Amino acid sequence: MATETLNIKVTKTKESKISQFDPNNISFGTVFTDHMLVADCINGEWQTPEIVPYGEIAYNPALASLHYGQSIFEGMKAFKNEADEVLMFRPLENFKRFNISAERMCMAQVPEEIFINGLEELLKIDAAWVPKGEENSLYLRPFMFASDVYLGVRPSQNYRFMIIMSPAGQYYATPPKVKVETEFIRSAEGGVGYAKCAGNYAASLYPAKLAAEQGYTQLLWTDAKEHKYFEESGTMNVMFVKEGKIVTPKVSTTILKGITRDTLLQLAQSMGIEIEERQVSVAEIIEGITAGTVSEVFGVGTAVVVSPFAAIGFEGTDYKLAEINENSVSNKLKKALNDIRTGKIADTFGWVWKV
Ligand code: COI
Repeated sequence: MATETLNIKVTKTKESKISQFDPNNISFGTVFTDHMLVADCINGEWQTPEIVPYGEIAYNPALASLHYGQSIFEGMKAFKNEADEVLMFRPLENFKRFNISAERMCMAQVPEEIFINGLEELLKIDAAWVPKGEENSLYLRPFMFASDVYLGVRPSQNYRFMIIMSPAGQYYATPPKVKVETEFIRSAEGGVGYAKCAGNYAASLYPAKLAAEQGYTQLLWTDAKEHKYFEESGTMNVMFVKEGKIVTPKVSTTILKGITRDTLLQLAQSMGIEIEERQVSVAEIIEGITAGTVSEVFGVGTAVVVSPFAAIGFEGTDYKLAEINENSVSNKLKKALNDIRTGKIADTFGWVWKV
């Protein structure tokens, strides 16, 4: 389902590494497929993209992105159906979000044919790397960084766009225990919270490290002004099940507009589950867990898909959540999403993109 024809120069590897990859034992982000895509934007002009053997890239130490952080990325997944056809999921949404991030970080816009056709061509060449299996997928990582060699602070004039791919299994081995963060923030209004820029992830590491020292797997971020309302959890959007309804923070300039989030909300509505997108206060959820009206809390995102939490830590107390079962809302949503993405059930939404 290519958008426009695009000239891509292809140089294939002489020796595939696929025999070193075990689909039954995948550790996220550690193994990469045989090829990668590279496209340079030089003074506003996109050059012919190239698909080359996966490997290291050498750079000048004065590379602008290393110093001032003009660097963005996307996270997407590809699957195989029963007929071994490769399927991408809502790639145009990732493409659009990528350019929204690029605009906020004052970077070049990537043309659709480079992003989408680049993904398609790379997936055709490395199709053997798309694993099958309930929790398995091929994680796709398009990214772009400023490639000027210059130490002055200004938007770079040159950019490099790349796509690498890595087989993925389940992200969290056990349900995470998350801590409500009331000291540090992920983002503030007017900042870059809605952009998928590298700095957002760097800034989260120190608070996450402090939480890990207290026994928590991840953080539940709260708003920058009052630490009263939930925003996101770690690198995921967050959803709560309260009295059978899905309640989730409304997206804003401080929250990443998750494609998995949007997908699950649409799926929930199609299954007759009510949804509420609004401010969700910490007090409401803690009271709800204590009173038994909040039954599930889960993170949603490309890498984790749907990740139910085991407990929420707030002001020194851990509020435990019941274990997920077949009838849990998060479980039903995850199953429906997986069935559509892997072609097990018909896609009535137009989300699946056959490569
Ligand atoms: C994704 O779900 O793609 C993410 O952004 C998480 C990633 C940073 C591991």
